[in-house]
Amino acid sequence: MTNRPAYRTIPVLDQRPGALPVPLGAAGSTSGHTRDTLGRPLRDLRISVTDRCNFRCSYCMPKEVFDKDYAYLPHSALLSFEEITLIARQFVAHGVQKIRLTGGEPLLRKNLEVLIAQLASLRTLEGEPLDITLTTNGSLLARKAQALKAAGLQRVTVSLDGLDDAVFKKMNDVDFPVADVLSGIAAAQAAGLGPIKVNMVVKRGTNDHEIVPMARHFQGTGVVLRFIEYMDVGATNGWRMDEVLPSAQVVARLQAEMPLVALEASAPGETAQRWGYANAQGDYDPRLGEVGVISSVTQAFCADCNRARLSTEGQLYLCLFASQGYDLRSLVRTGADTDRVDDTALAQAIGNIWQGRTDRYSLLRAALPPEAQGNGARRVEMSYIGG
Ligand code: GTP
Ligand code: 5AD
Ligand code: SF4
Ligand code: SF4
Repeated sequence: MTNRPAYRTIPVLDQRPGALPVPLGAAGSTSGHTRDTLGRPLRDLRISVTDRCNFRCSYCMPKEVFDKDYAYLPHSALLSFEEITLIARQFVAHGVQKIRLTGGEPLLRKNLEVLIAQLASLRTLEGEPLDITLTTNGSLLARKAQALKAAGLQRVTVSLDGLDDAVFKKMNDVDFPVADVLSGIAAAQAAGLGPIKVNMVVKRGTNDHEIVPMARHFQGTGVVLRFIEYMDVGATNGWRMDEVLPSAQVVARLQAEMPLVALEASAPGETAQRWGYANAQGDYDPRLGEVGVISSVTQAFCADCNRARLSTEGQLYLCLFASQGYDLRSLVRTGADTDRVDDTALAQAIGNIWQGRTDRYSLLRAALPPEAQGNGARRVEMSYIGG
């Protein structure tokens, strides 16, 4: 017996819609702290290095859609490491300070350390090293943590949706055990890939009873656990509002067991609201650590969204919920000879695109009547665009 929603069959082409024309020309700046039409800077570049994953999380890559016949991108379509670095360099020239490698599962991409080493050589406009991080399901982390650290990765974020094997296996849908993810986290800690964050997507009725056990498990370990509202991203996960547990309720459930105090944001445009564990006097106790809640459904944080996303095949998406991207690969794919790439044209294109950005999907959705909320048929998948 399965409680999965009935899926619509979506033609594969719909998952990767046609690209928007890249606005070329000198209107945009080639460097500097570029801002969009809402005054938002460009700080965070999220790069998807593969559209494949060895998990089939029901909220991201449901088995019914991502089956053996699913048409993943051919290797030739993927950006090469050199192409990624060329593009990333121009984003950094426009103010990017943080790069997150995502997927799919980024550790499935062969020799990822080589890319990390290339990205680690870039410097921000202020001459500082980038904050380079990676989102992983943890399955390959125990094997790869040391090499990732040695290549220049600073930290990792691990997805884990519960501590109970039955619950977690139901979420990942490939029978993957909790213990192996926990060993991955331990290996990352031992390798110095901290501060480690653990992201738990909360689906009401599926894993919400794991909220308190997860908090207890990670309290005082230095790992920052974050609870994420289940989102209507993509077009295939059969999202329903009644499966979203609002973050306010997550915090209330935690407060009932372990006292929390609100903490300040650690960076502008941060996705998570931070809560610190309190001591007996009711003050934040850093030794106990903190948790976060990410409330993109009930409390949209578009107002200062500074995130750009580069898809596996080199399309630039300005919002997680966008249905079309800009084909930057066409500007850097000149055969094997990356010296022939016109960096100025690429830099201007990125400036033009960001300066024209108006995206604020979650804010607009919140204003819609409930019956109009939900998956958009042409919306791009998170495994392709990167979380
Ligand atoms: P840190 O730098 O470690 O704080 O990372 P982050 O929170 O910026 O990125 P992460 O990938 O860990 O984000 C956690 C989750 O928040 C993602 O998996 C998404 O579910 C959600 N999320 C991240 N960025 C956005 C965004 O721009 N819009 C929306 N709606 N959700 C986002
Ligand atoms: N809702 C919220 N977060 C999601 N992720 C993927 N799909 C969804 C969704 N529908 C995020 C999770 C996961 C990361 C890889 O992407 O945080 O840990
Ligand atoms: Fe894979 Fe992460 Fe998506 Fe799960 S959420 S299917 S682990 S990419
Ligand atoms: Fe940014 Fe779009 Fe997410 Fe809003 S919905 S925070 S604009 S990515």
